[in-house]
Amino acid sequence: MSIEMSKPVPRPGILEIAAYVPGKEHAPGVARVYKLSSNETPLGASPKAIAAFKAAADNLERYPDGQARELRGAIAAVHGLNPANILCGNGSDELLGLLCHVYLGPRDESIVTEHGFLIYKIQTMAAGATPVVVKEKDHTVDVDSILAAVTEKTKIVFIANPGNPTGTYIPVSEIRRLQAGLPKHVILVLDAAYAEYVRRNDYEAGIEVVSSNANVVMTRTFSKAYGLAALRIGWMYAPADIVDALQRVRAPFNMNAPAIAAGAAAIRDQSFIQDAASFNQLWIEKLTDAFVALGLKVTPSVANFVLIHFPDADGKRAADADEFLTSRGYILRAVRAYGFPNSLRMSIGPEEANRGVIEALGEFMGRKA
Ligand SMILES: Cc1ncc(COP(=O)(O)O)c(C=O)c1O
Repeated sequence: MSIEMSKPVPRPGILEIAAYVPGKEHAPGVARVYKLSSNETPLGASPKAIAAFKAAADNLERYPDGQARELRGAIAAVHGLNPANILCGNGSDELLGLLCHVYLGPRDESIVTEHGFLIYKIQTMAAGATPVVVKEKDHTVDVDSILAAVTEKTKIVFIANPGNPTGTYIPVSEIRRLQAGLPKHVILVLDAAYAEYVRRNDYEAGIEVVSSNANVVMTRTFSKAYGLAALRIGWMYAPADIVDALQRVRAPFNMNAPAIAAGAAAIRDQSFIQDAASFNQLWIEKLTDAFVALGLKVTPSVANFVLIHFPDADGKRAADADEFLTSRGYILRAVRAYGFPNSLRMSIGPEEANRGVIEALGEFMGRKA
């Protein structure tokens, strides 16, 4: 006889999950607010994507194409891939969740890194499995500490490359070394949400590594450089067996029609992405230099945000800076939950916001910017 409970009770472990807290949006009482807390682009989306989105409004009574063929075809054409190896998701978050639900169960482990993206932990626990957290080195993924943590229970290794909230990356040679050191049944997830921004010769998002191995997948998103966060578009490039397994579990219409149309138009407009990456590079350098000149420490970033570390001194800590900046309309991201209690992450904003934060932090630090 089953034990009766006084109310519905979630599976063991679910209530131990700390729910994801998105970036703040509001600064009460401030007229002009710049949201620099969710790594959104200040440049919006390609006008071609916006036009495709609007055109999709004429057919809202129809179900979307459950295979998202137009979008998968456009991604495949731009990146030189076989569309059969591409699976689209309602944001890459959905794909990360599907990987956990399909490949993890009770008694299994995933490996995540010290400052890794929180969704990996959340989805691992949602699948009833255990996230094993390994150290990073200089705020950077450390392949040796990952390999040292592999046990017979390990089923997935998650790395964000570049990392969020660190903005650091590991070169493709290190990704290859990691893959070579993993048992063949362990999936290596390369989350390349910020790949479009990276300007480093030794960086690769992971296409090559996925193509030549049966246990590596790469996830990407349209939420950052493509400026389509509102539409929730992610994609995964993966071996056929993994795509096949996830296809069986996903919702049949997980991608909506305006998202399919806008995503396809967006990815075809690569000159828009080049411009976005150039703007970003300019400001990553300017902001890093300016903050360092103010006496702050900044983790070197290849993504579209910078991680700023504050002095451990009364009135000068990250929480003080957060309050000060918010009162001036600049909303950054507190990153305590990522293991940085005295740091703030700032997404690259529009020029006036970037200049404004430099000036405000100059004032905050008691020096002239
Ligand atoms: C490392 C990383 N992966 C995945 C995502 C999720 O992106 P999406 O909007 O595609 O769900 C984010 C978003 O912040 C991210 O920083």
